[in-house]
Amino acid sequence: MSKPTRHFDFLVLGSGIAGLTFALKVAAHGRVAIVTKKDRAESNTNYAQGGIAAVTSKEDSFEFHVLDTLQAGAGLCKEEVVRTIIEEGPARVAELVDLGMKFSDRLDAGGHLEPDLGREGGHSKRRILHAKDVTGREIERALLAAVAAQRSIEIFENHLAIDLITSEKLGMSGPNRCLGVYVLDKRGQEVCTFSAGTIVLATGGCGKVYLYTTNPDIATGDGVAIAYRAGAAVANMEFIQFHPTCLYHPKAKSFLVSEAVRGEGAVLRTVDGVEFMSKHHPQGALAPRDIVARAIDTEMKRSGAEHVWLDISHRPASFITDRFPNIYRTCLQFGIDITKEPIPVVPAAHYQCGGVLTTVDGGTEIAGLYAVGEVGCTGLHGANRLASNSLLEALVCSHRAAERVKAETVRIEAVQLPPWQPGNASNADELVVVSHNWDEIRRVMWDYVGIVRTNKRLQRARSRIENLQAEILEYYWDFIITSDLLELRNIATIAGIIIESAIERRESRGLHCNLDYPDPDPEWGKRDTILRRKLM
Ligand code: SIN
Repeated sequence: MSKPTRHFDFLVLGSGIAGLTFALKVAAHGRVAIVTKKDRAESNTNYAQGGIAAVTSKEDSFEFHVLDTLQAGAGLCKEEVVRTIIEEGPARVAELVDLGMKFSDRLDAGGHLEPDLGREGGHSKRRILHAKDVTGREIERALLAAVAAQRSIEIFENHLAIDLITSEKLGMSGPNRCLGVYVLDKRGQEVCTFSAGTIVLATGGCGKVYLYTTNPDIATGDGVAIAYRAGAAVANMEFIQFHPTCLYHPKAKSFLVSEAVRGEGAVLRTVDGVEFMSKHHPQGALAPRDIVARAIDTEMKRSGAEHVWLDISHRPASFITDRFPNIYRTCLQFGIDITKEPIPVVPAAHYQCGGVLTTVDGGTEIAGLYAVGEVGCTGLHGANRLASNSLLEALVCSHRAAERVKAETVRIEAVQLPPWQPGNASNADELVVVSHNWDEIRRVMWDYVGIVRTNKRLQRARSRIENLQAEILEYYWDFIITSDLLELRNIATIAGIIIESAIERRESRGLHCNLDYPDPDPEWGKRDTILRRKLM
């Protein structure tokens, strides 16, 4: 059953930092809908521990931040995008503070309050603004409070986007334009049609495509998958960042141990207690993430151990509990007192550096469709994201997207959108297919498309995922859709995109390490890996 079309001026999919910032900035210019698949605070942003990298101290400069970003990005960053985002960052951070965001501060030598700047891998200076180790939670609090005060913004919780409605799909002539979205109301189990002149993907990343991830359950790559199916170009999806330090404990699901812990002196050791990062890189445990994650992977494969140790216990207990209260409390719940003993950690999928190909103001190849935050690929991150640059990108690009659409808002109420067609779908009789395929995709991706890849592993992954995609497609048309099925279809689409991108890039660069092409190739250093849809 379908409900009548809901019309808005701006339709935002996702309620993390990028989506909420965009919504606030256009709220005075029209009616805004925020569609979010769980409750409003459940976003990748909410789990960000580290913070926002921005130049705010006298010892730092835009040039240093630009150089660190370019170096981490391993030759594939777009320098003009890097400069724009870094130079506009401090103004956007100041707006966040004006909204009520509270960053941690400390007293300087003269007794004045100044931001307490953290340090993370690949940064040559302390420049991470943070709220202890719960920065994302504090950002969400401040932004959601501001959104609640706006009468023009309506939030639809427990609503999951199914597919974009484009002029091309409706057989209309002219350039392809995004007109609306079919959305599953998860509570009512109904499909609603939303239309808007501007549609913004702010759906975050795709960590759940891998068996082990620091991401929450919502991170199923929905935005990239629906944009790809609608015909948008998707770039650089082979560059999946594995965070070096996810808590290793049978009962701990996806718990990140922030890089800021290494920024404050934590050391990585093998299970035998031997410090190993200094032999892998001059910056030791604070080398860029691709290097640290690969070094841990190498040490674990060499020793057969299931984890390595991260040790901060040499710092005073009062410092640790004050600076990292969330990490301290969470580890303690699992019986690990980080003030006294090392933490068992493993690398886990953390961040997609690629995404829907966009300009720095979020514009995609489809008119009316924007992508901001992790879902988009502006060229800031290149082949490897510098820690804590992502919240910065989300703030700057959502502001720029808002500025752009305010200048060109299109009202499209006149276009009649067809209601969702359920066809002859019936209730599924065997839900085990969904859970089995979900597990299989994530295991295949972890085993064959992980930190270190080979041609053979990628080919194996391709044939397994193609079979699964065919099975899921058949299931999709035969049975009434559920949110589990939609997310399964999305992770299958994303797995296919990551594999094809990884096969296409015949070199090793940044986060993409293929033992059959162990070196960077200067020709590939000039190119993004761009994929467009095969019909699915
Ligand atoms: C962390 O706190 O280690 C994560 C920060 C980031 O991914 O940028």
